[in-house]
Amino acid sequence: MREEQNNIFSVFDELLPRKEKEKLLNQRSKVIWMTGLSGSGKTTLAKYLEKKLHSEGFLTQVLDGDNIRTGINNNLTFSADDRKENIRRIAEVSKLFVNCGVITINSFVSPTEEIRDQARSIIGKDDFIEVFVNTPIEECEKRDVKGLYAKARKGEIKNFTGIDAPFEQPVDPALELLTENKTIEESGEELFNFIIDRIKL
Ligand code: PPS
Ligand code: MG
Repeated sequence: MREEQNNIFSVFDELLPRKEKEKLLNQRSKVIWMTGLSGSGKTTLAKYLEKKLHSEGFLTQVLDGDNIRTGINNNLTFSADDRKENIRRIAEVSKLFVNCGVITINSFVSPTEEIRDQARSIIGKDDFIEVFVNTPIEECEKRDVKGLYAKARKGEIKNFTGIDAPFEQPVDPALELLTENKTIEESGEELFNFIIDRIKL
C-alpha cells in the first residue's frame, strides 16, 4: 500500500519537463524581446512575426502593452519604478510561457539597460532574444500613430520615452532592425528569417 502511494506521489511530484512540451509542439521555445521607442513598429512587427510563424506551424503568444498594461499591469504608471515592475512581471509571465514550450513575442519599450538586463536574467540568457527596433525618434514622431508625441510635446503626458524620459539603445542586441526606409514586409521578413533557425527543433 505504502509503495503504491509512493508511486502515485512521485508521479504528481514531478512537473512535466519543458523538453516534452517542446517535443509535443515540435518547436524550441524562446522569448523574442522587441525593444524600441513608442511608434517604432514593435507591435506591427510582432504581429507580422506571429502570423508568419503560425502559418509555418509554430505556437506563439504575443505580449504587448495592449494586453498587459490593460490587464495584469493595469495598476502601473510610466514612472521609472513602475516601468521596472512592468517589465519584471512580463518577464515572469514570459518564463511561464517558455516553460510551456510556447514562443513568446514581446513588444515593450523597455527603455533602459537595467530593465532589459532584469528581463534577461529572469528569463535566462539562452532563451532571451533581444531585437532592437531601431527607428529614429524623428520618424516615430512624424508617424505619431497614437498622437502621443504631440501630447508629450505640449506637456500633456509626462515621462514620455524619448521626450522627457530616457531611451538607452541596446548595447549588443541579437538583431537590429532599421525600419526607417523599409516596408513592414521587408523588416518582418528580416525578423522571420533571423528567428526561424533559432526555434526549429
Ligand atoms: S515600458 O517603458 O516598457 O514600461 O512601456 P510599455 O509597457 O511598452 O508601454 C508603452 C506604450 O504605452 C504608451 N505610452 C507610453 N510610452 C512611453 N512613455 C509614456 N509616458 C507613455 N504613456 C503611454 C505608448 O503608446 C507605448 O506603446 P507603443 O506600442 O510602444 O507605441
Ligand atoms: Mg505597440
